[in-house]
Amino acid sequence: MLKFNANRMPMSDRIETLRDYTNDYHKSVVSPEKFWSEIAENFDWRKKWDQVLSWDFETPKISWFENAELNLTENIFERLLPTHENKTAIIWEPNDPKKNPIHLTYGELFKATCKFANAMKSQGVNKGDRVIIYMPMVPEAAVAMLACARVGAVHSVVFAGFSSSALADRINDCQAKMILTSDGNFRGNKNIQVKAVVDEALNNTEFVEKVIVLKRTGEAVEMIPGRDLWWDEALEGQSEDHLAEVMSAEDLLFILYTSGSTGKPKGVVHTTAGYMVYTYYSFLNVFQYDADDVYWCTADIGWITGHSYIVYGPLLAGATTLMFEGVPTYPHPGRFWEIVEKYKVNQFYTAPTAIRALQVHGTEPVEKFDLSSLKVIGSVGEPINEEAWHWYHEHVGKGNCPLVDTWWQTETGGIMISPLAGITPNKPAHASLPLPGVQPVIVDSEGNELEGNNVEGNLCIKYPWPSMIRTTYGDHQRCKDTYFSTYKGMYFTGDGVKRDHDGFLRILGRVDDVINVSGHRMGTAEVENAINEHSNVIESAVVGYPHEIKGQGIYAFAICDSLDKSAEVLEDEIKQLVRKIIGPIAKPEHVQIVSGLPKTRSGKIMRRILRKVASRDLSNLGDISTLLNPEVVDDIIKGAGLD
Ligand code: WT7
Repeated sequence: MLKFNANRMPMSDRIETLRDYTNDYHKSVVSPEKFWSEIAENFDWRKKWDQVLSWDFETPKISWFENAELNLTENIFERLLPTHENKTAIIWEPNDPKKNPIHLTYGELFKATCKFANAMKSQGVNKGDRVIIYMPMVPEAAVAMLACARVGAVHSVVFAGFSSSALADRINDCQAKMILTSDGNFRGNKNIQVKAVVDEALNNTEFVEKVIVLKRTGEAVEMIPGRDLWWDEALEGQSEDHLAEVMSAEDLLFILYTSGSTGKPKGVVHTTAGYMVYTYYSFLNVFQYDADDVYWCTADIGWITGHSYIVYGPLLAGATTLMFEGVPTYPHPGRFWEIVEKYKVNQFYTAPTAIRALQVHGTEPVEKFDLSSLKVIGSVGEPINEEAWHWYHEHVGKGNCPLVDTWWQTETGGIMISPLAGITPNKPAHASLPLPGVQPVIVDSEGNELEGNNVEGNLCIKYPWPSMIRTTYGDHQRCKDTYFSTYKGMYFTGDGVKRDHDGFLRILGRVDDVINVSGHRMGTAEVENAINEHSNVIESAVVGYPHEIKGQGIYAFAICDSLDKSAEVLEDEIKQLVRKIIGPIAKPEHVQIVSGLPKTRSGKIMRRILRKVASRDLSNLGDISTLLNPEVVDDIIKGAGLD
């Protein structure tokens, strides 16, 4: 069954049977270079590669399609336009269901991209410059990303819910020359003043020369002459033709900041060719996209999911991708399902936290809408608990849609471990099997590989894949230390994993000091640093605990010096401060003022105990006799009301 133009999209790229999967997987391990070069052959290259892959995980240095030249957007537009000119590329559903949606064909998206690329060039953006995108979920945000790729600028999308200081940190780290933003954002019944956040951030940075502002809410905003201009002004008189910049395979495509267990968020760097090949291939196979399907991923473009599976993967595969501006519960808890019915969505991809939040409203909002168009449903961002898996499978998928639980990370660029819809077996709450080209291994704490079934340990990847992280921007050592030093010769994911008796993988969650709140990654150190900014805080420790809806919640313990403020006042001030410094997603659920923190003799905080208290589970508290100050444990337990 050939769904695409046979010359351009050979179906050999799409795995059609379990036997195909087994064969392709085998081939990808035995001859990875041959495997990936055959997929890469589908694309238009200005110049072909000299070598498919060169790598070492020591430095680390990873180079795919070495010395090849291309422009990623030529592979969306020039390559596909002969067959896709009038096909819808993006369907946009606004926050307010009474307002008009937008349908952009590949032809229209191409013109919009070229026009904006020309506008950016006129405002001084050149190949290699960094451009921050701090925007709502509107088609212009996708156009902005594509226009950056077109001119060879490196985009860094910052989720528009981050605070001004988080934004300033990112601007400074990548020395961004330009910011693309909007006057305001509609999200549910909120109207967020985005431009004001940008203005505040710009007080603390000197790199940005131009700010282009999209009119979205019509809010009155201050425009600084010479620095700020309106989107429409920038587009005035610009041509709809633009000759794409020729990029090297390993030229930077984008930087995306993500939290780790230490320090400030780091800029994960993805490069052009490998990312292009992998997001295309994984999109096509995991979701089993057919030519006339409507695909919808509910993520925000501020996260890697939005990059790889709203914008790049689907568009490179010639898909129709839906972008939704709003939130799942506005104006009613059936909004997602209303949208599925409205556009006859075929593949639906969301996060467990959204499923759990909607589960609370019962099945009535789901049953009100016709979901019969759905063929595949997907999950991403955090481990999906069995209850949510079954609810999603039964009530949304009506028991007959494969549910793809996709495990991957900002650093991996694309989906790594996941069922292929309808091809490989589905097992509740299991990410299951690696995609072709992905070689996961389970290692014990010494780095010994645990082979066979029924084993549990740390998840590593032992061979490069095309869309893997290349470096952390401006700090290669940090990339090496974080991912390539824990276990020699392997990429370490930071996740725990189990291989069950059938050989299926189940992701167990982070084994480092990273908390996953509603599918968003937060570093404990990052939250602690924000808390420590409070003038009364002497020391703090942050841990995650199981949260019914969010997966994990943030629990903070703080030692304070103030005697004239009540604990309640301090707790509230600390919560508000974190919200202000990082953003609402980082606000702790609980703050507990404590007299001390449990410390080992070497002065390390024993987080294991704090995690137990935060989880309200004091069983197996373990040995506390090695603590420097065992007496604080009782105080903390009492303070949490657990005695
Ligand atoms: C971390 C990566 C991948 C895009 C969204 C999050 C967790 C992600 C799953 C899954 C269990 C998952 C991991 C991972 N995670 N997907 N299907 N099952 N855990 O990207 O912000 O880079 O976070 O999210 O812990 O390490 P991210």
